[in-house]
Amino acid sequence: MDLAHHHFHAASVPEGTTLVLDRPDDWHLHLRDGEQLAAVLPHTAAQFGRAIVMPNLKPPVTSTALAAAYRRRILEARPEGTGFEPLMTLYLTDNTPAAEIREAKASGFVHAVKLYPAGATTNSDSGVTDLRHAYKALEAMQETGMVLAIHGEVTDRDIDVFDREKAFIEQKLIPLRRDFPALRVVFEHITTQDAADYVREAEGDIAATLTAHHLLYNRNALFQGGIRPHYYCLPVLKREPHRQALIAAATSGNPRFFLGTDSAPHARGDKESDCGCAGCYTALHALELYATAFEAAGALDRLEGFASHFGADFYRLPRNTGRVRLRKEAWTLPSDLPYGERRIVPLGAGERLGWRFLGPA
Ligand code: DOR
Ligand code: ZN
Repeated sequence: MDLAHHHFHAASVPEGTTLVLDRPDDWHLHLRDGEQLAAVLPHTAAQFGRAIVMPNLKPPVTSTALAAAYRRRILEARPEGTGFEPLMTLYLTDNTPAAEIREAKASGFVHAVKLYPAGATTNSDSGVTDLRHAYKALEAMQETGMVLAIHGEVTDRDIDVFDREKAFIEQKLIPLRRDFPALRVVFEHITTQDAADYVREAEGDIAATLTAHHLLYNRNALFQGGIRPHYYCLPVLKREPHRQALIAAATSGNPRFFLGTDSAPHARGDKESDCGCAGCYTALHALELYATAFEAAGALDRLEGFASHFGADFYRLPRNTGRVRLRKEAWTLPSDLPYGERRIVPLGAGERLGWRFLGPA
């Protein structure tokens, strides 16, 4: 089965077409640590100039000192000859002091603080149990202009898994932004029409990241011929009208919507399991996946703003100077890849992909 074509639409651009973009950045990425970091970092570093690196390690990156040490490990694992720059984040807890936020801001290398509602996803046990506990830290963030990056799902067991993002907007995000109107917010990996509408219409400094998998697939992918754990991520894939709303947002040219892969590696056995982990591995072929989605929408001319400009502008960082090239050329994704001692399965493993990343232009 061919990525995207199988589910949705035909390609529009002739074979051999090349696409040159300013070097993009990934505004939401999981790099893990140790041998896993060494296995996945080269994929991201080949395509992206910078990435916002998620702090959900075990234990989580809750302080500037821990972020500095993690940043050093990333730089040490960085392949020779790439200028890839990790943009670090702190993991917000019930106990994050305001002083920690000020120190993070002063460091120059911490670019966001991540809110995981406790229990929402992988390694989120130390997350915030009640936003009121984090108000001192949020005040300091508002004051210093530190970005709050939000995993926007409620964790209430009584709320249907597919409705948790919508409920988060109503129950948490709107009240939070009423209390902190100048807080700079990125609503991460949005998956619903509700979130896209909210981000487009809301007042103040707000943006959203969009993953390639939520642009390419709806929730049918989870059950295509059987249960398909490599399509399972959080927030979970939604119905087709939501996917279409995300495509409309991503290709609208509105600078509030930009690229964040949420590439989230887990070893094969941890996904193909009795209780499989959430996360899609897309770092290997991220730009190709986004190009596939934008091509299908007839919007390849909007890819560069989304991938290479809007995120940097929102984070108040300079745009990258280099350029990269992709070609419309079919190739077959590997069935799996080394992941330390184990293996990892890229999204769409074994399928044909219509675009190929060629490297610097
Ligand atoms: O699918 C996901 N995987 N969603 C998250 O929020 C966390 C991530 C991970 O770290 O594996
Ligand atoms: Zn994530």
